[in-house]
Amino acid sequence: METLRIGIVSISDRAFNKTYEDQGLPALKSWLGAAVLNPLEFVAHLIPDEQPMIEQTLIELSDIQKCPLILTTGGTGPYLRDVTPEATLAVADRIIPGFGEQMRQISLHFTPTAILSRQVGVIRGNSLILNLPGRPNAIAETLGGVKDEQGKQIIHGI
Ligand code: MTE
Repeated sequence: METLRIGIVSISDRAFNKTYEDQGLPALKSWLGAAVLNPLEFVAHLIPDEQPMIEQTLIELSDIQKCPLILTTGGTGPYLRDVTPEATLAVADRIIPGFGEQMRQISLHFTPTAILSRQVGVIRGNSLILNLPGRPNAIAETLGGVKDEQGKQIIHGI
């Protein structure tokens, strides 16, 4: 089976500064490892909530690393430091509103604060880029709603 290279990006000032340990990358790896049948190769980044750095990371994962799927976690909320959706939209060729709508809708079954996430899904080149909220439990909650039984819908979602 084909090895899939997946870009995973945890976006958090406090995890980057080591105020606390990053939980985003381990949660992404664990969910993907269990949900996707293909062997996986991760290209992982832990970065602060800085828009230029987020944009640069997404561009590298898409254009240079050629990841068909790039997942970000964190920075989707309403605070002024939360700029992940802005960075994602800035590098997008196309916006796919259905991904954000679907993930928020599913999240509302778990928590009313799901409405606060401004997460988006976009295409850049051959990459599908999805924002996920920063709470580790939000990763499984949201991704579970946009995959089919083999994870194909998100991997080959475009
Ligand atoms: N969605 C799910 N499924 N589970 C969650 O715990 N947390 C919410 C929301 N979406 C949450 C969720 C909260 S409290 C916030 S503030 C926003 O996502 C944005 O989180 P972020 O800034 O860490 O991305």
